[in-house]
Order: sequence, then C-alpha cells, then structure tokens
Amino acid sequence: MDIQRVGIVGCGLMGSGIAQCAAEAGCQVWVKEAEESFLAKGLARIHGAWDRAVAKGKVTEGQRSAWQKNLQGTLSFATLADCDLVVEAIPERLDLKLQTFAELDRILGPAAILCTNTSSLSVAQIGPVLEPTRLGRFAGLHFFNPVPVMPLVEIIRTLATTEETLAALRGFVQGLGKTAVMAPDAPGFVVNRLLVPYLLDAIRCAEQRLATPEDIDAAMKLGCGHPMGPLHLSDFIGLDTMQSVAEVLFDAFGEPRFKAPSLLRQLVASGRLGRKTGSGFYRWEGEKRLEALSL
Ligand SMILES: NC(=O)c1ccc[n+]([C@@H]2O[C@H](COP(=O)([O-])OP(=O)(O)OC[C@H]3O[C@@H](n4cnc5c(N)ncnc54)[C@H](O)[C@@H]3O)[C@@H](O)[C@H]2O)c1
Repeated sequence: MDIQRVGIVGCGLMGSGIAQCAAEAGCQVWVKEAEESFLAKGLARIHGAWDRAVAKGKVTEGQRSAWQKNLQGTLSFATLADCDLVVEAIPERLDLKLQTFAELDRILGPAAILCTNTSSLSVAQIGPVLEPTRLGRFAGLHFFNPVPVMPLVEIIRTLATTEETLAALRGFVQGLGKTAVMAPDAPGFVVNRLLVPYLLDAIRCAEQRLATPEDIDAAMKLGCGHPMGPLHLSDFIGLDTMQSVAEVLFDAFGEPRFKAPSLLRQLVASGRLGRKTGSGFYRWEGEKRLEALSL
C-alpha cells in the first residue's frame, strides 16, 4: 500500500514535526487540531522552520511553496476521511485518545491505517474502541523529539497488526528519510526502556554528590561520545515528563532502576521542570543552557 494522504491529529510539538516531515516527503497532509489558536500556532511553527531553511539557503523558494501546498489545517475530523494513514499525536491521556480513535474509526475508509504516537501507553489498550475489522491496520508509530531532526521511528505492532500494515508503515517511514525499528508493545518500547534507567541513574549520581552536574554531563559526553550529557538531556525532555515515564515503567516492571529518585520528585514539586520553565538541573534562556543550579 502506498501512503499518499496523511492525517495528523494534534499539531503540538510532535504532531507539527510529523506533519512537517510528511509534507516535505511529498505526502498530502491534513493536520487536525482542537482549536483555531492551537492550529495557527502549530502551522506557524512549521512555516517558520521552512522560512528559516530558505533564509539559510538550505531550501529553494520553489521547494518551500511545494511543501506549503502539501500542508493543510483543519478543525474537523471529517476532513481526514480520505486519508490512507492517520497518526494521532494528542496529549498522553488514555480517555482523550480513546475518544479520538473511536471518532477516526467511524469516519475513515476501511483501507486506512491508524497509528498512535504514544510514548508510554499500551498501544493494544486503544484497540477496543476500534471496529474488529480495523485492528489489523492499527499500530504504534513512535517518533522522537525534535521530529525533523531525529532519524528513528519505532513501529509497534499489536498481536492483531498485519504484515501488510507493517510493510506500509516501513515504507512510509523510509519515505520520510528515517529509519524504522520494530519495538514490542511493552512499556518504554526499546529506546525509553534503555534510556530512562540510565537518566535516572545519572540523577541518583547527582543526588549522592558523586560529581557536579556539569562533570556528570561532561563525563558522558566526552567519555562516551554522547551528543549531550544525561542531566542536560533530562532538562531538555522535561523533569515532569521524566517522572511520569519513570512511574509508568516502575509500575510495569517493579525494578528499582525504574524508580524516580527523590531529587527528581523534589525538583518537579518545586516547579524546576527543566528547559521549559527556565530551570531544572541548569538555568536556561530559551534553548541556551546556562550554569548548573544548586541542588
Ligand atoms: N514530547 C515528546 O518528546 C514526545 C516524544 C514522543 C512521543 N510523544 C507523544 O506524542 C503525543 C503528543 O505529545 P506532544 O508533546 O506533541 O504534546 P503537545 O501537548 O505539544 O501537543 C498535543 C496537541 O494535541 C492537541 N489536541 C488535543 N486534543 C485534540 C483533539 N481532540 N483533536 C486534535 N488535536 C487535539 C492539543 O491542542 C495540542 O496542540 C503524546 O502521546 C506524547 O506521549 C511525545
């Protein structure tokens, strides 16, 4: 199956990135938001990225206008009715996702593939709101932030997902210029199952004063060739997000390595959520990391 028409539900951080990549890959993209102001903000983020690329000479005016033609916004689910693939990227709340998938299942044609970009919910848990005939064409498609930059997509199959659907999704991911890996429908999939305990261990090291935050980050950056240190990365992800992902993984596996350290909880409780609030392990000015703050 060739995926040409793509619907994205939610034009926040992830949805706008997925929409941008799909439009650049030549797909006809409709992005659906809940409210006009969120739609305008999400589309402005995408158009801003394209404008910057033209200003830097990385993209021609002609390319930008072709991409712009490929992208349209909507507030109505009905506009997505002709899509070959719809990717849901709304907030990480099961109740909202169930409502959205029930609605999508009603309006989409029988051949359409439906995917969720959830990072911590079980993909199969969404299945019961779909018609049984859709279950073969339902899967997880887990992108990484920032989507236009990160080359990996995890494809998550449920026990019902067909080989034909997986092949179509692999082709779609490849068409975006990204690499797909198959991941189990288990908490954390592959990347977060390995990454989260490492980040939590780095926080425990800071808590135990093993080294300063700057030295922990420098050690992993320079000693292991990581593009950023673990405390810097935690601030980048958001410490509240880190805490909720740790809770999901600890609930699922019960292993101490997945338990949110006390220092993480204290930072979250005091409003130091990382880059997005201007302070976490470090002080931030927008995208710029400044000095480490006291712990
Ligand atoms: N942020 C990350 O680093 C990251 C990484 C991978 C996966 N994810 C997953 O992607 C999903 C989206 O995360 P995000 O960070 O983009 O969230 P976000 O809050 O930035 O964006 C969600 C958007 O969905 C919109 N929305 C809510 N209800 C809607 C509806 N009924 N119809 C259309 N739009 C609706 C909101 O207005 C908002 O703009 C979540 O499931 C999250 O777990 C996030």
